[in-house]
Amino acid sequence: MLNKKLQDTINEQIKNELYSSYLYLAMSAYCESVNLSGFGHWMRAQAGEEQEHALKLYRYVIEKGGRVLLQAIDEPPAEFGSALAMFEMTLAHEQMVTGLIDNLYTLAIDQKDYATQIFLQWFVTEQVEEEANATQIVELLKAIGDHPQGLIMLDRQLAARGG
Ligand code: FEO
Repeated sequence: MLNKKLQDTINEQIKNELYSSYLYLAMSAYCESVNLSGFGHWMRAQAGEEQEHALKLYRYVIEKGGRVLLQAIDEPPAEFGSALAMFEMTLAHEQMVTGLIDNLYTLAIDQKDYATQIFLQWFVTEQVEEEANATQIVELLKAIGDHPQGLIMLDRQLAARGG
């Protein structure tokens, strides 16, 4: 069985992952509106990954005999200013999610729930990758500055993301 507080916090995290998916889908729509379809593709793939994260948590709660309770998801912003501002926001968002995952892990330690600690290790590792990916793109966009040719090349590169 899942401890009640742990279950409530995982349910909260399901919502957080779905909000991440919604946020990246909003970013994707913004990219399409400014003719950056490669960026738009990358963000849609990211939105799909976030949905998978939510489902991983969803399946875990059920497997542990708990109860999934879905919560309301906030409306994401529609405008993001520029590709750089959008990726800076992405990085800040992922850093915030890392904090939430760390809090969840700490709670599992406090509750002496070893199975949940092991389950959450996947998310801890995933957050390292999420932050690294966003950081790399922020750095590339800073290097590109206001050279449209560089932005077009990066757009083509991001269009090649699988998933
Ligand atoms: Fe679900 Fe972007 O971490």
